[in-house]
Amino acid sequence: MSSIKFYYGDSVPLEMHKARIVQKLNLVPVDYRLKAIAIAGNNTFLLKNRDVFMDMLTDSGVNAMSDQQLAAMMIADDSYAGSETFTKLENKIEEIFGKKYFLPAHQGRACENIISQVLVKPGSIVPMNYHFTTSKSHIVLNGGSVEEILIDEGLKVNSEHPFKGNTDIEKLKKSIEKHGAEKIAFVRLEAGTNLIGGQPFSLENMREVSEVCKQFGIILVLDASLLADNLYFIKVREDQCKDLSIREITREISDLPDVIYFSGRKLGCARGGGICTNDREMCLKIRELIPLYEGFLTYGGMSVREIEAMTVGLEETMDENMINQGPLFIAYMTEELQKKGVPVVTPPGGLGCHLNAMEFLSHVPQNRYPAGALAAAVYIASGVRGMERGTMSEQRDENGVEPLSNMELLRLAMPRRVFTLSQVKYAVDRIAWLYENRELVGGLTFIEEPKILRFFFGRLAPISDWQNRLVAKFKSDFADSL
Ligand code: F0G
Repeated sequence: MSSIKFYYGDSVPLEMHKARIVQKLNLVPVDYRLKAIAIAGNNTFLLKNRDVFMDMLTDSGVNAMSDQQLAAMMIADDSYAGSETFTKLENKIEEIFGKKYFLPAHQGRACENIISQVLVKPGSIVPMNYHFTTSKSHIVLNGGSVEEILIDEGLKVNSEHPFKGNTDIEKLKKSIEKHGAEKIAFVRLEAGTNLIGGQPFSLENMREVSEVCKQFGIILVLDASLLADNLYFIKVREDQCKDLSIREITREISDLPDVIYFSGRKLGCARGGGICTNDREMCLKIRELIPLYEGFLTYGGMSVREIEAMTVGLEETMDENMINQGPLFIAYMTEELQKKGVPVVTPPGGLGCHLNAMEFLSHVPQNRYPAGALAAAVYIASGVRGMERGTMSEQRDENGVEPLSNMELLRLAMPRRVFTLSQVKYAVDRIAWLYENRELVGGLTFIEEPKILRFFFGRLAPISDWQNRLVAKFKSDFADSL
């Protein structure tokens, strides 16, 4: 895709696939959207998908599958124990990641639950490049705490750094010095670092982290859920890897950690997950919990059809023309928004295009949830559903104090091979309009606030009648357009 040049120079990402099954979309009128977001408590997680035009909430479990994946699903071996379908996946994992033992789980957070139960004790510390919501919650539930050791550049919304997901090696060494290696349950590296805008780490940086872990005898765990994007960025941004194939880069990475886990809803474009390792002792400890929480060892809560699709999906992930579609569409959207002055996270990462709500709505204070307010406003203006990744996604501490997030982002995820470029252009148009009218957007306040993972089902109300004023301006600018 990236190697195709256009004669007139108007370079756009070109899809290396065609759509043969499609799903009808609805774009409901703006008055209806205003009602729908109110019914959803201004939380995009609570919208009904039938009221959504472009669902950019997540790329989790919603990537397009290939014809080869669908075909494989038809020949799944549906046996409770010893399924041939599982053996195929186990072999593919060993072939790609070089790990002998594979333990299946129903999704990524199930792996996090099990790994945390096995490795985290009360008082344990888990240093990591950056936390993900569920990974942190499981560590905290087991009495541990997370220490973020991301490079400072990673938290700068706009930067030229090609690897904003890198670990600060000095911070890692200081953390070990401060707590002592025996208190560190494991070091966690997240590929395609989700909460800072889908930003990758470099292979070189991962090697340095691994060396430090080895020196102190600390377990290194890789969260490979967003590995596909990270592989692509290593290939195109890291000089020393430009002549390596995606398969070779994968192996260089996977030889470093002791344990790899992933959400198959992201990696491999199916639904499920798993943990792999070469450490037999570790495998035996983890294995005890799989039948307890997930299912027998040859399905782990996954449907065998999804396991077949995952095996094919992992193989397809080794194709640069497959894994570059997301990053190239995201770069296109990010750059088009930038041309219109809209504040976005740069450089463009994987996963999705991220709007910088802190700057977009600089008049909305963080305790009024600018990223959540922007999510509601983007839905009203366009029918596009994004996900708040800011203070709403944080959790109050035991004293009820609300930590303010480092960043206030509205994530517009790009499910792989799902949207067309004209749909992306539509989203850019409506977001640019909203940016011109940003003064009309106000904040939100919780009216129902769950204690854990409140962003999933918390309900909020707008402060003032800003949403009605936004709709009135929409109608005066767009007349009878949807
Ligand atoms: N790790 C990372 C980096 C993730 O992005 C996710 C999920 C998980 C673990 C958990 O995996 O959903 O299969 O249980 N991210 C989704 C998202 C929810 O929308 O970004 P899961």
